[in-house]
Amino acid sequence: MLHNVHYFGFTTFSLTTMSQLDKPQRPPAIDFHGVCMSKYFTENWDNVQSFKARPDDILIATYPKAGTTWVSFIIDLLYFGQTCPERQTTVPLIQRVPFLEIALPSQPSGKEMADKIGTSPRLIKSHLPVQFVPKSFWENNCRIVYVARNAKDSAVSYYHFTRMNYVQPDPGDWGTYLNSFMNGKVVFGSWYDHVNNWWKRKQTYPKIHYMFYEDLIEDASREILRLSDFLGLSPSAEELDKIKATTMFDSMKHNKMINYFTSGMMDQKVSPFLRKGKVGDWKNHFTVAQNEEFDEDYKQKMKDSALVFRTEV
Ligand code: A3P
Repeated sequence: MLHNVHYFGFTTFSLTTMSQLDKPQRPPAIDFHGVCMSKYFTENWDNVQSFKARPDDILIATYPKAGTTWVSFIIDLLYFGQTCPERQTTVPLIQRVPFLEIALPSQPSGKEMADKIGTSPRLIKSHLPVQFVPKSFWENNCRIVYVARNAKDSAVSYYHFTRMNYVQPDPGDWGTYLNSFMNGKVVFGSWYDHVNNWWKRKQTYPKIHYMFYEDLIEDASREILRLSDFLGLSPSAEELDKIKATTMFDSMKHNKMINYFTSGMMDQKVSPFLRKGKVGDWKNHFTVAQNEEFDEDYKQKMKDSALVFRTEV
């Protein structure tokens, strides 16, 4: 049952927890306009496509596992950390920054949550490939923050996430999953197409701030400052330090408003949502043969790309 409560400009929803549910049925992967998807991200398609963005909306777009939650939390704190500190302890991040295209049974859709945000700017998260983004974001010249993460760590992180998240099709074992990832047969499609097509769009749409997970790990203060500049915000040095500290991995891991502990679709006993938070964990997963095959394939797929990713920092 859903209880809707109005709180600090939000209609908050109490969502069903894992223990209240039978293990949900994993959906099959489907081909959706040439992109691998699952029904939980396509069933509300017409409503998502006709979403009415407002000029001050901020879209946080990523390929899954690039650090979406981290950057969403930083942006939420930049806008509302000072003006509305209560929301940090009362409204889960998934409701402060709704996931636009998600549509799960017996839960409000991401679109519905986004429509109900009563504060501005609205922060909205999406994993959609650039060609699927609702046109009102472009028409309204919205600011878009895109976060990218190197392919190897993305694959590892997505594998563990897929194991614990029943919204995702069955990942199989690591070797099987890595093949699916390389072939774009994971939900939201090819990592290679996603990062490259968003990068290409940035060349003609200047209001995209394209960030890298590895840069955040290397120097979070510098990246938060760059992000603030893009958003037209001027946080004080003290505020910046506070945001950096609040959004550190260990701090987020224990923050119940952030760590998805109440999500009905995730089994954190299988793998925690905030898992490792490192650059280079791929080295603990790839065999030598897998690494060679991956590098060869990567060279081909990225041969026309201007993007350079770091797999260690
Ligand atoms: P790992 O699985 O490698 O640990 P998303 O939010 O896009 O789903 O991304 C999740 C990934 O970002 C996870 O990676 C998670 O641990 C990592 N992450 C989240 N917050 C982080 C932080 N503050 N510092 C470093 N990594 C973080």
